[in-house]
Amino acid sequence: MSSSHALTALQVMQDAPVIPVIVLNDVAHAVPMARALVAGGVRMLEVTLRTPQALACLEAISRDVPEAVLGAGTVRTPGDALAAARAGARFAVSPGYTHAVGRACRDAGLALLPGVATGSEIMMAQEDGLTELKFFPAMQAGGPAMLKAWSGPFFDVRFCPTGGVTLANAADFLALPNVVCVGGSWLVPFDALVQGDWARITQLARDTKTLVK
Ligand code: 3PG
Repeated sequence: MSSSHALTALQVMQDAPVIPVIVLNDVAHAVPMARALVAGGVRMLEVTLRTPQALACLEAISRDVPEAVLGAGTVRTPGDALAAARAGARFAVSPGYTHAVGRACRDAGLALLPGVATGSEIMMAQEDGLTELKFFPAMQAGGPAMLKAWSGPFFDVRFCPTGGVTLANAADFLALPNVVCVGGSWLVPFDALVQGDWARITQLARDTKTLVK
């Protein structure tokens, strides 16, 4: 997957069974953290825009870790989408969906995985041609049973459940035909970042290889 062409949301979802959801408070953590995940076989990385350092972290990873495929999470406004693209993100993940965010991602060349938790939100995303969606917050909003219920009316939609997903319950989601991958923060624990325990992050990434889609 070269860095020169635009990604599709399906490509983002199909790269690995898990997309790590990453929160970074220190730019110095960004590059070793990204290298640790790549060393563990996970290269599709979602760095959330929920800290003041997030954009600088995206820039650093994009500059120094070319093997990573970078995404921005917590994209809530058109401005977030633009800033993420400028910082080197190639895909965006949002906690909800608005037409404005959908348009901004399209204009910025970002693949978008928009968050949905209701049928109306799915229909709104579908109106804009989006059929690969994030189910958020997955466990709190109904878990695998919700996705089973949606597979009837929304037979043409594929999901990345995120929120409350762990190595222990990921397989329950991945077994569903309408789930392509899951997202979760467990691969990059806060204490591992603070301790600079990159080997632990590599191991957590490797552990996801037991998951199959
Ligand atoms: C988030 O946006 O915080 C993600 O959904 C991660 O959720 P998790 O921490 O429950 O994995």
